[in-house]
Amino acid sequence: MGKASAQVDEIRLWSRLMDMAAIGATPKGGVNRAALSAEDNQARRRLADWSNELGFETGIDEIGNLYVRRAGRDADLPPIVTGSHLDSQPTGGKFDGAYGVIGGFEALEAIERAGIETRHPIEVVAWTNEEGGRFQPGCMGSFVFIGEKSVADIAAITDSGGITVSSALAETLAAFDDLPRRALATPVAAYVEAHIEQGPRLEDTCKTIGVVTGIQGQRCFSVEITGEEAHAGTTPLAIRKDALKAAMSMISALETIMADETDTVRFTVGRFEVYPCSPNVVPGRVFFTIDFRHPEEAVIAHLTDQIEAICTANARGCDVDVQETVRNTPARFDPDVIATVRQSAERLSLAQMDMPSGATHDALYLARVCPTGMIFIPCAGGVSHNEAESATASDLAAGVKVLADTLVDLAT
Ligand code: GLV
Ligand code: MN
Ligand code: MN
Repeated sequence: MGKASAQVDEIRLWSRLMDMAAIGATPKGGVNRAALSAEDNQARRRLADWSNELGFETGIDEIGNLYVRRAGRDADLPPIVTGSHLDSQPTGGKFDGAYGVIGGFEALEAIERAGIETRHPIEVVAWTNEEGGRFQPGCMGSFVFIGEKSVADIAAITDSGGITVSSALAETLAAFDDLPRRALATPVAAYVEAHIEQGPRLEDTCKTIGVVTGIQGQRCFSVEITGEEAHAGTTPLAIRKDALKAAMSMISALETIMADETDTVRFTVGRFEVYPCSPNVVPGRVFFTIDFRHPEEAVIAHLTDQIEAICTANARGCDVDVQETVRNTPARFDPDVIATVRQSAERLSLAQMDMPSGATHDALYLARVCPTGMIFIPCAGGVSHNEAESATASDLAAGVKVLADTLVDLAT
């Protein structure tokens, strides 16, 4: 019996990553694979085909999560699970998400080639809609899997074109009606996810492996401002209810309270919509989103609890409706899984460091139901959620080697 990591094949991994990156490829070298789109389904199908070629079991659940399973000695034991997501941001890169799925699959193939028999089954999962670019919130596959919400709870959510999760999901499930249907909320013995870091720390410190200790907290809001449409040439400023100017005042006041000389606060307005968006009409309605993140719950509560009052105070005669859309307390990963990842990296003599994750991942939800950890590898310049996202074949393979040995340790 050989070591799993010795069977990880850098060229095979790279070639599968590039194969996947061709699905939804953008002219600037990135990827646009919106959740539950035709491209996302094509990506799932590619994974299912690879799984069938290697004789693994493939299945899909009610929210579209795709499972690849390598049997263990004891079929009654819950699986050790790895994975990530195949959906991308609209101007996403080749590696965010796809690396965790394809890297997980490479780890599974390496374990198979090494002829290692494990006690637990090992599964690779492609979770549905992690990004939240098309349907909000993200991480639908993982939070539905753990039973935090049901498919019915999110069925009526629409994308910007009015298509519901329910109808997009029905299309995905119909496209995969050849696969056995898996149950939701099944027990998981442990979860480990590999991902590019999406920040600059590993590259800056010349480390190959980030041993992830947890994920910072997040709170998101949608803000809807209703003013009054009016003629741009005739309506005196004093009587306008200009939703855009109200939004500008709100964001500017929020920027002031979010100022942080340690640069730890993450405050983002990522979506901003103006109606009717005509040059000579005073904007009657604005919609924008707030994404706030911080490692400390007390800071999250202190700053985000002020958001509604600040928006109301800056409404400039308009009505404002602030809704919370996501609330995640910071996640701390399991000490034993963290130690297993660290030891696997040590045994491979890879330069490593402990680090928290700034980005959210499906691991945040899995951590609520099972011992969880993550493995990061560097990405060039820390750039992510960008078509220019890039990582080296050797770092990608190093992360999968750590993953493969970690999975074997946990599964044996
Ligand atoms: C996931 O991509 C996130 O927003 O952190
Ligand atoms: Mn991701
Ligand atoms: Mn992402």
